[in-house]
Amino acid sequence: MSPHGEMACSVDIGSSKVLAIAARKVDDEIRVVGYGAGPSRGIEKGQITDPERAAGAINYAMERLEREIGEEVKEIALTIGGAQLESAATQGFVPIYPEGRPVRGTDILQAVEHCRRVTMPAGREQVLAMPREVRLDDNRGTASPVGQSAKRVEVVTLLVTAPSSSVDAIQLIADQLGRRMVELVPTPMASALGSLSPDQMESNGVVIDLGHGTTSLAVIRHGSVAFVGAVPIGAHHVTRDLAQLLDCELPEAERLKCECGTADLPGVNPEEAVMIRQKGSNHQRALKKRVLAEIISSRLRETARHAAEKVARGGFEFNDLPTVYLTGGGALLNGADTVFGDAFGARRVKMVWPRLVGNHARHLAVPEASVAVGTARYALSAGVDELQPVRGVDSWREGLKAFQSLFRRAERN
Ligand SMILES: Nc1ncnc2c1ncn2[C@@H]1O[C@H](COP(=O)(O)OP(=O)(O)OP(=O)(O)O)[C@@H](O)[C@H]1O
Ligand SMILES: [Mg+2]
Repeated sequence: MSPHGEMACSVDIGSSKVLAIAARKVDDEIRVVGYGAGPSRGIEKGQITDPERAAGAINYAMERLEREIGEEVKEIALTIGGAQLESAATQGFVPIYPEGRPVRGTDILQAVEHCRRVTMPAGREQVLAMPREVRLDDNRGTASPVGQSAKRVEVVTLLVTAPSSSVDAIQLIADQLGRRMVELVPTPMASALGSLSPDQMESNGVVIDLGHGTTSLAVIRHGSVAFVGAVPIGAHHVTRDLAQLLDCELPEAERLKCECGTADLPGVNPEEAVMIRQKGSNHQRALKKRVLAEIISSRLRETARHAAEKVARGGFEFNDLPTVYLTGGGALLNGADTVFGDAFGARRVKMVWPRLVGNHARHLAVPEASVAVGTARYALSAGVDELQPVRGVDSWREGLKAFQSLFRRAERN
C-alpha cells in the first residue's frame, strides 16, 4: 500500500454519462485523485443494450481519467443498474459446536453462505450478499459477535439479484477493455454510499436517485440498506414529454427543463411566460410557465408514485421511513423534493450529494456523481475484517462487506 493509501477506480455506467473516478482513502475519507467523463452510448434505462458502443463510451471516460492521473488503471469497480435489479432479505443460521464456544468469523461466513443458498429463478443471479444483522441465540442486532459465546448464529442478509445476461454484458465489457472487474455494485447501493453522511445513514429513510433513464431506490433502516430497486423512468422522460407536447427539439426541451422547469405548481406565477423555440424554425413563442410546470410535475408525480409503490411492495411502511434523500441529476429539478416527499409521505426531504473537498469538488460534489463516488468508497473499504475469508478473495462474487463497516470503521474491533 502506498503512503497515500490504496487507489481504487470506479466507473458509473449511467444512461446519460459515463463517469470514471480514481480515489484513495485517507484517514477514513474518500479523496478523489482524478476523474474522466463522457457521454454514455449503448445504455438505456440503466441497462446495457449495445455492449460494443457501451465499451467505447467507457473506454473514452477511462482514457481521460488515465491521462489525468498519469497512470494506467488495471482494476475497475463497475455498477449494475436498471429496473431488473431486485433485492430480498434472507435468513441463515449455523449451530455452534461445542455449544457456547466463542463465535468465529467463519461461523458468520457460513451463516451468510446459508442465506445465499436460495433457489434463483432461471436466468438470474446474485450480485451482492450483504450481511445486515447478526443474532446470537435470538438476541437481535449483536454489534460485535466474534468472540462472544453462543449456541447458534443467525444472520440476516440482503441479497441483490440481476439478470445473468446483464452481469455477463458488464463482464464482457471489462474483458474487452482489458481491465479486471474487482467489484460490481448495484447502483442504488452505490448512490446511498456516495451521498449519505454517517449520521444520515443512521436515520431511517429512502435514497432516491433520479437519473436520466432510471430512478433507483435504496431503503435505509438501522444503519443498513434493507431494500434496493429501480423504476425505468428518469429525468429524460420529462425532456421527452416536453419535446413532444410543446413541439420542440430535444435540446430545446432539455434547456427549458433545466433553466425554467419546475414541478412546484403552486409556486408558479400564473402570468409568467418563458420563450420557446419551435421545432425546425428559429421562431420563438411565449409559453405560460404554468404549462411547462404541469407537464413536468405530471411526469414526476408518476415517477414518484411508481417508486413509492415499489418500496411499499417491498413490505415497508412509509411511517418507518421519515426522510427522503434525493440525489442524481434529476434531483436538481425545481420542486422534485416536494413531489417525492409527498409520494412517500415524508417528514423531511433533503438533496444529497458527495461531500468532497479539494480540487475535484467543483465537478464531483454534485448529485450526478453520487454513484461513482459510492462505488469507489465500496471498492476502497476492505471486507468486514471479522468476516474476511481466510484465503484471498479473487472474485467480486466472493467479496463480502457489511454496510455499516463502509461507514463506521472506527467502531469495528
Ligand atoms: N438543473 C437541472 N434540472 C433538471 N434536470 C437536470 C438538471 N441537471 C441535470 N438534470 C438531468 O439529470 C439527468 C442526468 O442525471 P444523472 O447523471 O444522474 O443520470 P445518469 O446517471 O446518466 O442516468 P441513470 O442513473 O438513469 O442511468 C439528465 O436527464 C438531466 O437532464
Ligand atoms: Mg445514475
